[in-house]
Amino acid sequence: MSFSQNWEDTYQNNRHISVWPWPNLISYFYKTYDRTSSVKVLEIGCGAGANIPFFQSLPNVEYFGIDGSPNIIEKLKGRFPELKDNLKASDFTKDIPFDLKFDYIFDRGAMCCVSLEAVKKTLQQLKDFAKEDAHYIGIDWYSTEHTARESGESIGDNGNTRDNYKDGPFQGIGPVHFFSKEEIEDIFKESEILNLKLNKTKDYFPKKTENNIFASWDLIVKL
Ligand SMILES: C[S@@+](CC[C@H](N)C(=O)[O-])C[C@H]1O[C@@H](n2cnc3c(N)ncnc32)[C@H](O)[C@@H]1O
Repeated sequence: MSFSQNWEDTYQNNRHISVWPWPNLISYFYKTYDRTSSVKVLEIGCGAGANIPFFQSLPNVEYFGIDGSPNIIEKLKGRFPELKDNLKASDFTKDIPFDLKFDYIFDRGAMCCVSLEAVKKTLQQLKDFAKEDAHYIGIDWYSTEHTARESGESIGDNGNTRDNYKDGPFQGIGPVHFFSKEEIEDIFKESEILNLKLNKTKDYFPKKTENNIFASWDLIVKL
């Protein structure tokens, strides 16, 4: 399973334009970041660039990003002209278009847009772009405990990859994978998981979403 055209359509319709950095990414990055050394950071599935200003605010950090949507990459180049050579439109399951090695590779909510097999293949190929001590940071990998795991339509991975949501935040974005703890342990069985956290919240209001559970994983792995 590769990049879903639904994301290109989503961005053309100005949906999912997040512009503020995700707080979990900030706290997880600081767990291993040493501000005295220069680091190269690659974000896969960078979307509308919510996380870019955070990395630009840090000393000695060089940011690179890829996204499957040419539309959003063009918009980002307009917003961050100084990064125009570091931002590329590419399907991360097929091609990482940089001839570089990175200290950090991360995604926020992007690995959950493809099937389990594609996640494994992508992480395997990312090892060629990782420096010896590189960290992979994954933020908001949706969990099987998320309420939405039980709606939409199963399209594989024993029901953990789903599509065709009729409403809610997953409507119109294409496939979504919900990870179990066992799947994550298996994906990284040849690497060292340093941190793995399940974030879980429950809605009480509004009544429309009462009892909905939001559940996602954050992880740091030494690749
Ligand atoms: C939930 S959005 C997250 C965007 C951004 N990381 C953020 O935190 O706001 C997921 C992003 O992953 C991108 N994406 C999904 N599958 C992809 C693939 N196979 N190759 C490249 N980008 C992909 C989508 O285009 C989208 O921008």
